[in-house]
Amino acid sequence: FTRMAMNNEETVALIAGGHAFGKSHGMVPAAKIGMPPEIAPMELMGLGWHNPQGSGNAENTMTNGIEGSWTPNPTQWDNDYLTNLFKFEWEQTKSPAGALQWTPVDKSAPKTPDAHIAGQMNDLMMMTTDIALKVDPEYRAVCEKFLGDFDAFTQAFSKAWYKLTHRDMGPRERYLGPEKRNENDLLWQDPIPVADYQVIDAADVASLKKSILATGISVSDLVYTAFSAAVTHRHSDKRGGANGGRLALAPQKDWAVNRRTVPVVEALRKVQDEFNGQQSGGKKVSLADLIVLGGCAALEKAAADAGVATEVPFTPGRRDTTQELTDIEMFTWLKPVADGFRNYLDKGFGEISQGVSPETMFLDKAQLLSLTAPEWVALTGGLRAMNANHDNSPYGIFTDRVGVLTNDFFTVLTSTEYDWAKDDMKGLTFSLTHRATGQSRFVATRADLVFGANSQLRAVAEVYAGSDGHQRFVKAFVKAWNKVMMLDRYDVKVASN
Ligand code: HEM
Repeated sequence: FTRMAMNNEETVALIAGGHAFGKSHGMVPAAKIGMPPEIAPMELMGLGWHNPQGSGNAENTMTNGIEGSWTPNPTQWDNDYLTNLFKFEWEQTKSPAGALQWTPVDKSAPKTPDAHIAGQMNDLMMMTTDIALKVDPEYRAVCEKFLGDFDAFTQAFSKAWYKLTHRDMGPRERYLGPEKRNENDLLWQDPIPVADYQVIDAADVASLKKSILATGISVSDLVYTAFSAAVTHRHSDKRGGANGGRLALAPQKDWAVNRRTVPVVEALRKVQDEFNGQQSGGKKVSLADLIVLGGCAALEKAAADAGVATEVPFTPGRRDTTQELTDIEMFTWLKPVADGFRNYLDKGFGEISQGVSPETMFLDKAQLLSLTAPEWVALTGGLRAMNANHDNSPYGIFTDRVGVLTNDFFTVLTSTEYDWAKDDMKGLTFSLTHRATGQSRFVATRADLVFGANSQLRAVAEVYAGSDGHQRFVKAFVKAWNKVMMLDRYDVKVASN
């Protein structure tokens, strides 16, 4: 529930409210139920979990194994779940399927009508998670509040239900239809105030690019900062991203992985102040736009230095939000444990990842950014060319021309002139030596070598490494970069639909 950004009050409201309705199903021992669809014999045609008892459904239904309803009237909104949970002692019993569940000790406790057999009354049922609401002191305090105030419970459930069913829809710009609510954003919607100023135009973009490059911040740092702002985006629940400028706010500004961005944001603020101070017609540039624009300007320079003239797309209109409109605790869930794009592993990685490899976590990150395999490969190769490692470390920087948008990462990665060896037993880092000379050359992490070791990723890497691959790589990289920068721009996407 915490990962869904629910506090204790919301958690209790949801469980107590949800279990005001319906029933759990466990009439048949699991051993009697047929195989799941994916491993059932072909002739079952995808219909697994065959239930041989009676009709196989209705009063014979078997799903999770626990059997019964929580309340005497499970089709009505009321406070009976909490009333009975607290009024009675509950003892552990077993369902017909053999699952552990809880039943009132007092046999005079209310019963509940069977969902299918007319006239049959059954004992009430609680799951261990329901009993936990009574036993845990913090949940118990919330239960007691709701027990004494049905209206407060109803209101809390209604709000938490709205949040539960909308929290993965992202910003309100994505909401459609006549029932769309128009009041101010709620904190869990990660609000970004609307722009009450004129947004920068193409001429401003051109001059701002020059101002940013004139600050002397390195192209690597600019790229790193823009990417760090955008990479928090999660396609799964549409949270995070560069819009809002939250990279400059707690908690993100304080994450170890973002340490490198702090002086860059400082310098960009000066560019922002200077530009906004010069405007007379109510025009402003947001810090969120400047952070992304800095990355775009740097990449254009890096591509030009590599001999490929490229325009990196930039769409202005990001707005800055405030610290008050940022739920620090809930944004902390976006903090990466691992981020292969920035060659980052959290200090507690071993403990948190529970055996999941860094490259698997990297795949998860790429998936959260909704990247295809070629996009993932191109993006990583470009970031390595720019040395977008969180600590400026040499891992995966297979080039002598750092900050130039070369395809060197791929040519070295796929070359047979080198030998790779583990640095330690854990196999988290590797060293590369030149086969012919024995000279040590580069170092790498698992988030680098996976692009050579995995056959599918390697197939893409070889295309970018080819003698005709450089231009193609730059094009693919810029496209993937722009995709990531635009992931959270629902204002633009919805407007153009
Ligand atoms: C600790 C959290 C929860 C646990 C462990 C839990 C567990 C379960 C289980 C095992 C079932 C029985 C499924 C079946 O056999 O068909 C069930 C049913 C149900 N749950 Fe939950 N649940 C939780 C929270 C919630 C929440 C937050 C809601 C809604 C706000 C909810 C609403 C329901 C409803 C309506 C049913 C009855 C479905 C039916 O009648 O077929 N539950 N729950």
